[in-house]
Order: sequence, then structure tokens, then C-alpha cells
Amino acid sequence: MSRPENRPERRSNRHENRPDNQTARMFFTQNDVPDDDRRALVELLNQELADTTDLLTQTKYAHWNVKGMQFYQLHLLFDEFADVLFEHGDELGERVAALGGEARGTVRMTAENSRIPEIRTDVVIGPQYVEALANNVSIHAANLRGGIDAAEAHNDQDTADLLTELSREVDQYLWFLEAHLQREPIQPAMEERGGRSEGEQEQGHGERPQRYQQGTAPTRQQ
Ligand SMILES: [Fe+2]
Repeated sequence: MSRPENRPERRSNRHENRPDNQTARMFFTQNDVPDDDRRALVELLNQELADTTDLLTQTKYAHWNVKGMQFYQLHLLFDEFADVLFEHGDELGERVAALGGEARGTVRMTAENSRIPEIRTDVVIGPQYVEALANNVSIHAANLRGGIDAAEAHNDQDTADLLTELSREVDQYLWFLEAHLQREPIQPAMEERGGRSEGEQEQGHGERPQRYQQGTAPTRQQ
């Protein structure tokens, strides 16, 4: 089929608009962190920036598309988390610049560099979106925690402090998400009594977070 006249030819090569260079440019600064450390820190921070921006767009995706009886509270929770991630991205980009680096934060750069897997796009209702997001947030939380140690190894307590702050907030939202998915512990003795004590309600606290599977409740080790 021929193309109608006057319509611009559609780009056939999706790689044409990809970022030309994955390495951030460096600029002069009198910041006293050693040059080699600053380069490594800029790479580290740009990696966290890409992950953060990717997760931000995924959270907005959930904010727009979530459905079901829990729609409104999840719609609001996802938007609140997206606002937090937007601020995180801004702080990461500004720290890159403060260290003399180029903040690699366009959408294309983000798509090229992110370590976060794409969010599931075959889900519909609230708990499914919560699971999908919680899985990816847990990856981001682990990566941020690793970044704290890396920043310290590169002689930059300020970047370590920034990543510590971001890590604490991401952990908090992982908790908010996972709290929606928690099931009551199954205790045979409790079932026989047809109720549960306060002590039993406390069980589950302090457990290592589990990776939730689509459509299944998290299972406890008995
Ligand atoms: Fe909105």
C-alpha cells in the first residue's frame, strides 16, 4: 500500500534515536573528591537515576490503569510513590552535576540503562498491580542498598548519605505495598479454636520479604 502524499515517512530504524554514548561527560569542578572516584560515582548515580525514572513511569502506569474495588486508595498510593520517585530522580541528577558529571536522564537514556524489568502489562485488578510493583520495588531497594557501600568505597560520604535516605524511603514504600499482600498466618491450633490471639497476630513480623507470584498469596514456611 502506498503512503499518502505529504505524510512524513515513518522512521523504520528504532535505533536511530538511541543515545549515542552511554558514558557521562565530565566537567571541571573544584569538588575535592578524587577524579577517578567522581567518574565512578557519576556512573553509579546515573545507574540509580535510570532505575528510579523507570520505576517512576511504571508506578504512573499502575496509577492510571489499576481497577477493582481497591481502585481509589491504590490510585492515590501509587501517585504518592510516583511523587517520591520523581524527587529521588531529581536529587540523583543534581548529585551527578555536583560531582562534575552529566546527568543521563532522558527517557531514551533511561530505557537503555535501567536494571528494572518491565512491569507486568497483563494485570487488571488492584492486588495484581501491587504484586507487580512490589517485585520491582524490591529489586530497586536492593540495588540502592548496594549503592551505599559502593559510594563509601569511592570516598564519598555525601553520596552514601543521599543513597541511604533514598533507600530508607524506597524500603518504606515496599512495606506499604507488601502490607496489602500479607495473609494471616495459618496456625492449625488457631483454626481449631476458631480465632486467634494477639500473639499470633504478631507472627510474620520480621520475616524476609517474599517474591509474590501473580495471582497467588504469599506462602509461609511452616
Ligand atoms: Fe494522576
